[in-house]
Amino acid sequence: ARLTIIDCDPGTDDAIALWLALAAPELDVRLVTVAGGNVGLASTTTNARAIVGLTGRDIPVVAGAERSLMAPFRFETAVHGQDGLGGVTLPVGPPLAPGIAADAIRDLLRAAAPASVTVIGLGPVTNLALAFATEPALAGRVAEIVLMSGAWSEGNITPAAEFNAWNDPEALAILLGLGCQLTMATLDLTAQAFVTPEVVAALEARPGGACWRAATAILRALPPSRRMGFRGFPLHDPCAVAWLLAPGLFGAKEAQAEVDCGTGPGRGRTVIDRWQRLGRPPNLRLLETLDAAGFFDLLAERIATLP
Ligand code: BDR
Ligand code: CA
Repeated sequence: ARLTIIDCDPGTDDAIALWLALAAPELDVRLVTVAGGNVGLASTTTNARAIVGLTGRDIPVVAGAERSLMAPFRFETAVHGQDGLGGVTLPVGPPLAPGIAADAIRDLLRAAAPASVTVIGLGPVTNLALAFATEPALAGRVAEIVLMSGAWSEGNITPAAEFNAWNDPEALAILLGLGCQLTMATLDLTAQAFVTPEVVAALEARPGGACWRAATAILRALPPSRRMGFRGFPLHDPCAVAWLLAPGLFGAKEAQAEVDCGTGPGRGRTVIDRWQRLGRPPNLRLLETLDAAGFFDLLAERIATLP
């Protein structure tokens, strides 16, 4: 199994992504690090502890960034609710592990073999950026970084920018410059993981334990997206995890990307060259297409194996 770090800001879709990852025998999840993002750090850490706790697994959850590199985070309570889980209540999880996320990430990478660690980023990637910026050689321990971030078309938090990229563009720029194998699930990909009321009903009808019931309750609680014509919502973060479990569900290609770190209306926009217009070396594997039916089957089958 791949030695894995998950950095997240749970977050409704982060919760489902975490359960998918923790259900997967392909992934040996050793560390969950948490930043603020969808809601404040106090809530994202409480949620991460509860999400991991519900699986019965003993995996350290470590708190990290309370703000981005350059500014306070902006929260997204309109989508994720005041508590970050859409009002779905989970049993209180085990306490946080001691220490700070960036230190825990560096410790794990230092102890790992070259090119052996899979890093999944589901929020603003402040913790990851701090870890790599302070010890860049640790990029050599990474097998692959998979992010839910960015968009090649329009954004969701501003017309230009996707929420995670926009919440810490400088941190994303650091990751894009590492030279690691980096895979990105953008908004254009996650729009294909489109959850309509019919999809929710079909998923609710499938069997599962407490984690699966909580996952479907979260799906039931999520508001339809204006950007998607109020017909449903895109299930972003689980797409990044699904790539590692079932790459055959995706169409992917190499691309070159940079993120706008200016302070104008384009801040946080990922400018993605999908067609080699600039002739620059690729720094990204861009996930472009998703087999949605296969994706929802994977979610249901895997999360159903959890308690
Ligand atoms: C991303 O922003 C957050 O609200 C979601 O959890 C996801 O990571 C989508 O733009
Ligand atoms: Ca997230």
